Amino acid sequence: MEKIIITAPLAMFVPTLELGAHSHFSILTHLSVCFGRSHTGCFHPFNFIQTPKKRLPQHCEMHCCGDLVSFLSCGMILTGLWHLVHLRKTQTSYGRHMRLSPPVRTVPARLAWFLQEMPALLIPLLLMLTSHKPSSMGKYLLLGTFCIHYFQRTFVYSPLTRGKPFPLGVMVAAGLFCSVNGFLQGHYLLHCAQFEDEWTADYRYKTGLLLFCIGMAINIHSDYILRNLRKPGEVVYKIPTGGLFEYVSAANYLGEIVEWFGYAVATWSLPALSFALFSLCFIGPRAYYHHRFYQEKFKDYPKLRKALIPFIF
Ligand SMILES: NC(=O)c1ccc[n+]([C@@H]2O[C@H](COP(=O)([O-])OP(=O)(O)OC[C@H]3O[C@@H](n4cnc5c(N)ncnc54)[C@H](OP(=O)(O)O)[C@@H]3O)[C@@H](O)[C@H]2O)c1
Repeated sequence: MEKIIITAPLAMFVPTLELGAHSHFSILTHLSVCFGRSHTGCFHPFNFIQTPKKRLPQHCEMHCCGDLVSFLSCGMILTGLWHLVHLRKTQTSYGRHMRLSPPVRTVPARLAWFLQEMPALLIPLLLMLTSHKPSSMGKYLLLGTFCIHYFQRTFVYSPLTRGKPFPLGVMVAAGLFCSVNGFLQGHYLLHCAQFEDEWTADYRYKTGLLLFCIGMAINIHSDYILRNLRKPGEVVYKIPTGGLFEYVSAANYLGEIVEWFGYAVATWSLPALSFALFSLCFIGPRAYYHHRFYQEKFKDYPKLRKALIPFIF
């Protein structure tokens, strides 16, 4: 088979397009996204453009919904961009940015966080248990890191939060998002990704996992600081201090964003990148509004503290 490799800077995560020309097939039907070589000829972290069926093992054809993965990933990026553009002035209505009129039905914060985050843990676990396809340790480790985040959010963050009641509509929307995202990340890793055995030794895998762990530690520590600003039953806002709050107003968001970009690097995949970008678009502007809230509310708010990125923004 004759192959033409075109290096195209389409995006950070799409470094190479491969056109495989075969005497029996037209060039266009062989257009696929490649990240390297493997024993199957082409290493496919995602089927952004439909992969030629002849080159995929039988079980991939049966299980990987490449088009759906691309559709959901692109949809997530577009939803994030939509948030960025349309919610510049009004933030999603929960927490300190909750609008009081018209009055909405609310759910206790602990129950809301538990119910909305749970699907992002349950769905990948169910996919893992029902998958008949043998997976490498590297894949399980990656999906495990995703599940650890949502285990923490569901079983540790939720029962401990001292947040004010959560709007029902926002809870349902967040639950739907977590379900789709849990499916997307789980399905992609278990059924679509074809990592070479050496991937766990790759510097992107190691760096990504390290970033993920650092981000998660920042996120958990910062949420812990925020939680302890209030006594049980209190709903007041105070100036957070300690940890990365000395540098930014939204240290928990900074940790979350680092976490998901680390995950995207470790999996080197479109679905994970989409989620990282969505998180950036959703909580990035929210960090700015948190910062402005503090500056308006507290005259003695630390002048050098930034919103999200230490010393910069
Ligand atoms: N990946 C994503 O797209 C995404 C999206 C949203 C959230 N998250 C994560 O989910 C977690 C919670 O998010 P969030 O938007 O609720 O964060 P948040 O606005 O920082 O609030 C976190 C908790 O701390 C309380 N709190 C915040 N600032 C406070 C202060 N100055 N004084 C006293 N209490 C304070 C809040 O109470 P109130 O609720 O009463 O304000 C809430 O219970 C974070 O770790 C975040 O990273 C991720």
